[in-house]
Amino acid sequence: MAPRSPVRWTKSRAPNRRLWLFLSLPLLALASLQAAAAILRRANALGRRCAPAVAEYSGGSPPPPRPRIAMVSFSAEENGGGGGGRRSFRGVMDAVGGNKRAYAERMGYDFIDARRLVDPSRPPNWSKILAVRSHLHHYDWLFWNDADTVVTNPDISLV
Ligand SMILES: *[C@@H]1O[C@H](CO)[C@@H](O)[C@H](O)[C@H]1NC(C)=O
Repeated sequence: MAPRSPVRWTKSRAPNRRLWLFLSLPLLALASLQAAAAILRRANALGRRCAPAVAEYSGGSPPPPRPRIAMVSFSAEENGGGGGGRRSFRGVMDAVGGNKRAYAERMGYDFIDARRLVDPSRPPNWSKILAVRSHLHHYDWLFWNDADTVVTNPDISLV
């Protein structure tokens, strides 16, 4: 029997390398996802500390009053909602308003539908500033949320 030529040996090894690459790429992707999820979990935990926790006020003084919080949103249904008239926001607030109101009520926040503040002379997105600014002095925190969003986890509070 003739000995195998080095060329044949190399060729037969090549699929093994591809197999290893094929098997290791999903593992690498999974590890990357795990790392990203861990970073996001930590960032979430840090980012939700808008107000000091009540437990930090244990020196005999009464706990501070709960921060007054409102969710602000509107849907510019009359003037197309932006996007140069290519998009329509018609019916959006009817569809998602209940979701926003239910979350606000559950958390003890006010919900402000600021559609009356939309300035028709400007693109609708500029009216977000008007909507937030006009309520700023009534609250400690305002949570602007675009009309085309929903609360997917109502168990998470803003503070
Ligand atoms: C409104 O949208 C336009 C176009 O996308 C953008 O240039 C502008 O910065 C936006 N304004 C605000 C307040 O978001």
